[in-house]
Amino acid sequence: MVNFLSRASLQGFNTLALPASADYLCTASSVDELRQALAFARQRKLPITVLGGGSNIIFAGDVTGLVIRIAISGIEKVGGEGDSVLVRVGAGENWHQLVLYALQQHWYGLENLSLIPGCAGAAPIQNIGAYGVELAQRFVSLEAMALDSGDIITLDRAACRFGYRDSVFKHELKGQVIITAITLALSTAANPHLDYPELRDALAAIDQPTPQQVSATICALRQRKLPDPAERPNVGSFFKNPVIPVAQAQQLKDKHPDLPLYPVSDQQTKLPAAWLIDRAGWKGVRRGTVGVHDRQALVLVHFGGGSGADLLQLAADIAADVARRFNVQLELEPAVIGAVDVGRVDRGQHNAGFRL
Ligand code: EPU
Repeated sequence: MVNFLSRASLQGFNTLALPASADYLCTASSVDELRQALAFARQRKLPITVLGGGSNIIFAGDVTGLVIRIAISGIEKVGGEGDSVLVRVGAGENWHQLVLYALQQHWYGLENLSLIPGCAGAAPIQNIGAYGVELAQRFVSLEAMALDSGDIITLDRAACRFGYRDSVFKHELKGQVIITAITLALSTAANPHLDYPELRDALAAIDQPTPQQVSATICALRQRKLPDPAERPNVGSFFKNPVIPVAQAQQLKDKHPDLPLYPVSDQQTKLPAAWLIDRAGWKGVRRGTVGVHDRQALVLVHFGGGSGADLLQLAADIAADVARRFNVQLELEPAVIGAVDVGRVDRGQHNAGFRL
């Protein structure tokens, strides 16, 4: 039986610890409970918002309608031959616990994605990525409930249209489906991916690092630079790394020789937003209840007592300053939920790329 709470606080369910309430809140621990939640919303004509770990959302205000927390569990081997292992994971499983469990089973391939907060079901939406590996590289398919019919549909990798921090779930399928399980292709053969310079440097002393060593090293790197949400509320990167035309990147590089560039294709180059924000002087800046982390300029933090509007105003001011100095437009990485009333923030589409 699903329990529906009314006028429920969401502060404990978002890693920024922002104050917000939902008209109704429930937890769905199975596909059947998810159907019950959808029926409740349909009867009352309530809009639906889906919440996983709350680690990639900004509550800009209160949320109208029903918020459904997805808690569908289960990790099982469902196939594979030779070295390959197919693993099906319930959408509500904690991502990092999954990475650790996979390592214990000697199922390799997720180690570079260690210590990313959030749930397995949210991973495909932004195609989580870190230290040279993206979810898309390990992804086989997912199951999702279609909101119009309540049917479970299966989408393969091509159908998910993964890009850098992007997928079909931020576009055509936004608000159309709820992810209930994902299936990943892992391997019992270790094949460490050590291209990311910071990772390669950190492992330089080890001859052939094991996946366990890669995971432990990444945990240490992340712990050094990224604040623990339990101590200092945050959502990791607040902006995407901008992808711009090669010629424009080269012009910037000529002016700023120490700007790191990451080639994406013949036409496009990715820049570290952290570098732009840092160079613009925002690193470690505190504005009352919110601020920019002092060890990673891409992370905004909430010191307590603030609101989503405070954070979004700071983000808008940073983006405007970066645009003025470097002529590069920053885009928010997390999704924004709830009504926004910050003067100059263009709210864009609910849950989408959210341009500042
Ligand atoms: N840099 C600075 N100042 C800073 C931090 C970084 O100038 O305060 C520069 C450095 O030159 C560094 C470059 O920015 O070489 C890149 O920094 P880093 O390696 O820390 O990575 P990032 O681009 O800031 C991205 C992801 C992270 C992911 C790391 C590691 C995005 C938006 N962010 O950050 O993902 O952990 O790479 O792969 O792509 C997240 O999405 O929440 C997240 C934390």
